[in-house]
Amino acid sequence: MVMWLLACAPAPSTPDVAPIPAMSATDALVRVSLDLRGVRPSVEELTRVEGDAAALDPLIDAFLDDPRYEGRVRDLWSELYLTRAPSIYVNAATYGLTDQAAFEVSTGEEALAILGHVAANDLPWTDIVTADWTMADPVTAAIWPIERPEGEGWQVSRYTDGRPAAGVLSTNSLWWRYGSTDSNANRKRANTASLLLLCNDYLVRPLEFDRNVNLLDEDAVNTAIETDPSCTNCHGSLDPLAGYFFGFWWYDPSNPLENVRYFPEREGRWADYSGKSPAFYGEPGYSLRDLGQQIAADHRFPTCAVEQAWELLLRRDVAASDTSALVTHRDAFIEGGLTMKALMRSIVHDPRYLSGVTDAEGYVPKKMVTPDLLATSVEGLTGYTWTYQDYDLLRTDNVGYRTLAGGADGYAVTATATGPNATLVLVQERLAESAAWYVVEQDPGRLFTVDFTETPETGRLAMAAQVQALHRAIFGRVVAADGEEVEAALALWADLYAVERDPRAAWAGLLSVLLRDPDFLFY
Ligand code: HEC
Repeated sequence: MVMWLLACAPAPSTPDVAPIPAMSATDALVRVSLDLRGVRPSVEELTRVEGDAAALDPLIDAFLDDPRYEGRVRDLWSELYLTRAPSIYVNAATYGLTDQAAFEVSTGEEALAILGHVAANDLPWTDIVTADWTMADPVTAAIWPIERPEGEGWQVSRYTDGRPAAGVLSTNSLWWRYGSTDSNANRKRANTASLLLLCNDYLVRPLEFDRNVNLLDEDAVNTAIETDPSCTNCHGSLDPLAGYFFGFWWYDPSNPLENVRYFPEREGRWADYSGKSPAFYGEPGYSLRDLGQQIAADHRFPTCAVEQAWELLLRRDVAASDTSALVTHRDAFIEGGLTMKALMRSIVHDPRYLSGVTDAEGYVPKKMVTPDLLATSVEGLTGYTWTYQDYDLLRTDNVGYRTLAGGADGYAVTATATGPNATLVLVQERLAESAAWYVVEQDPGRLFTVDFTETPETGRLAMAAQVQALHRAIFGRVVAADGEEVEAALALWADLYAVERDPRAAWAGLLSVLLRDPDFLFY
């Protein structure tokens, strides 16, 4: 991430140097639909936008109000929070539960569910650090001290152990994922909060290491941390930040009686570890509630949300040349009451987001789907979800293929891939085959108009129309009935049919090839 300065004056309206070609309205529709809903547009939506490009705007509003938007926000921010990873200390059996897959999903999802709820319900983004509620599902409500109303799935709920109201900062989910050893003294947690909420990563600051400090001598290290300028550059503010997290100090993080609770009586334990009382860049505080308020009032908080949304939607780091665009989106975010919808609406109208094919710096002609997006877009078309014994195979690693598909687990892989690699292509192939068979056998009406009796001799017209419909649904494109795409698809169909003389198998094979097309992977 590149830091960008807050402009106090209105943003200068410097025109772009070279004109950038914009995407076609239908390409833009595909992109926005995938980014905001996780699925490709319907044929009806495509037709509407082809007839009138102005139809795109109301559709964007509808996508932001779509029930799937909440899941998209969770999926996007999961790439930053990296909490969708199994705990290294405990498992389902620790709590007398049998479903390990559900346990991993639920305990990793809490903080993301808060972000999704805030985004989908037009609450101000500051709620993510000030809320006095959390989100809970039946699993977390069963094992954590939480009062949850009846109902399915994730519900707005409350912790009952007297923990401070600080949104994601007071969730078990985040601090299970980011723990602390004695010598770490909550510094990792402090840096995590700083990185996720202020986009300030202490670890990218310059570190001029003093080789005279004996790292095996604890006293010498502690003196250096407090006095050596090469350490105080970070630790001067990091250690007071770390002081806020001692209510989550678990002496034994694998103890199921201990690691579910917040301990108000441990808040003062910073005195035994870092010796630095809680403060936020010089401003003292007492509890995580204070920290949440301090972060919410910091000008870097909205700036950071804008940077995160920008990077997640453009699939690239913030560049120095983005400054004026980011100021514009920040203004839209603030004017929109700090709602994530206002911010996203602004970003998806940005010419950098909507660029057609160009080499111009900072523009993104094509983006590769993330594993989450691959999962939801295939499901949207075919109804197929790729699971094994309750494990969602594109969202887990130990059992599933997330990292192989280009995702990040935060341990072995730290960032989502932006270009294809060998394992991703293999994952995509398996997924495409399974999804194609699934829809042909279980739910053909979703994609098929043929009734699987036609052959090129008996029903060439119907088959050509079918191929056209598949191109339309999968790529959003119109291809001619006598065009080369249809020609190639029917030739492949004939080759496949020659193997088993089974029209269903031939259609499943053809569909799996279309689902592996680069035009499906890039949008
Ligand atoms: C660039 C910023 C930066 C500088 C400079 C820096 N630190 Fe750190 N330090 C951190 C961060 C961030 C952490 C927490 C890292 C984590 O656990 O993820 C940390 C953690 C530590 C820890 C806890 C390690 C553990 O987990 O047990 C010690 C001890 C420490 N630093 C000592 C020092 C000393 C001594 C110096 C000066 C020679 C120094 N640091 C300079 C950022 C910095």
